[in-house]
Amino acid sequence: MSWSKEFVELNKSKHDRDSFDCSEPELNLFIKTQAAKHMSAGISRTMVLPSAHPLLNQQFAICAFYTVAPSALARETLPIKHSKKLPKYPVPVFLLAQLAVHKELHGKGLGKITLIRALKYLWEVNQYMMAFAVVVDCLTDSAQSFYHKFGFEILCEHNGRTRMFLPMNTLEQLFND
Ligand SMILES: CC(C)(COP(=O)(O)OP(=O)(O)OC[C@H]1O[C@@H](n2cnc3c(N)ncnc32)[C@H](O)[C@@H]1OP(=O)(O)O)[C@@H](O)C(=O)NCCC(=O)NCCS
Repeated sequence: MSWSKEFVELNKSKHDRDSFDCSEPELNLFIKTQAAKHMSAGISRTMVLPSAHPLLNQQFAICAFYTVAPSALARETLPIKHSKKLPKYPVPVFLLAQLAVHKELHGKGLGKITLIRALKYLWEVNQYMMAFAVVVDCLTDSAQSFYHKFGFEILCEHNGRTRMFLPMNTLEQLFND
């Protein structure tokens, strides 16, 4: 399976959600049954990287996807070096709620591409509506080590998952050239 050039918004009639399998049942279920509903409800946006060529059903396979949503966190959960200049009410952040690559494409650099595209998307949103950081809630130790590799720091435990964050000013240095 080869992937196309651009991430686009998930479209139920164009993208074959049923064939997506990243080996994590929770993420598979999310893309198949919840991602489109959450977009209709206006609570998160899912961007997918379609296959370059359609399947027999004329839909495009999903090679990778990411889901983003606005969120907020308590100032006290941040390390002191980050929190000392912040006000005492919840701090706006962007939540990178989901990110996954089809298992047939693991190990080919697509996870890195997907993460960079997701961060670039959020950095662009930040030009219009600012947030302090990007946060991710890691489903597994493996996801945690993936995000750690790209500079995310551990923040706290949140709903049984490890919450990690990347300050927006780090993205500023990465993309604002
Ligand atoms: C985690 C996931 C997105 C990685 O995708 P991938 O396409 O296999 O990753 P890449 O090939 O782009 O790897 C990029 C880099 O991350 C590293 N990496 C990949 N998976 C890793 C992991 N689980 N832990 C640590 N490092 C990892 C690679 O070694 C590579 O390093 P390099 O640039 O030094 O060579 C993919 O395995 C996946 O979809 N897993 C299931 C869903 C999931 O756990 N999502 C995480 C968010 S909840």
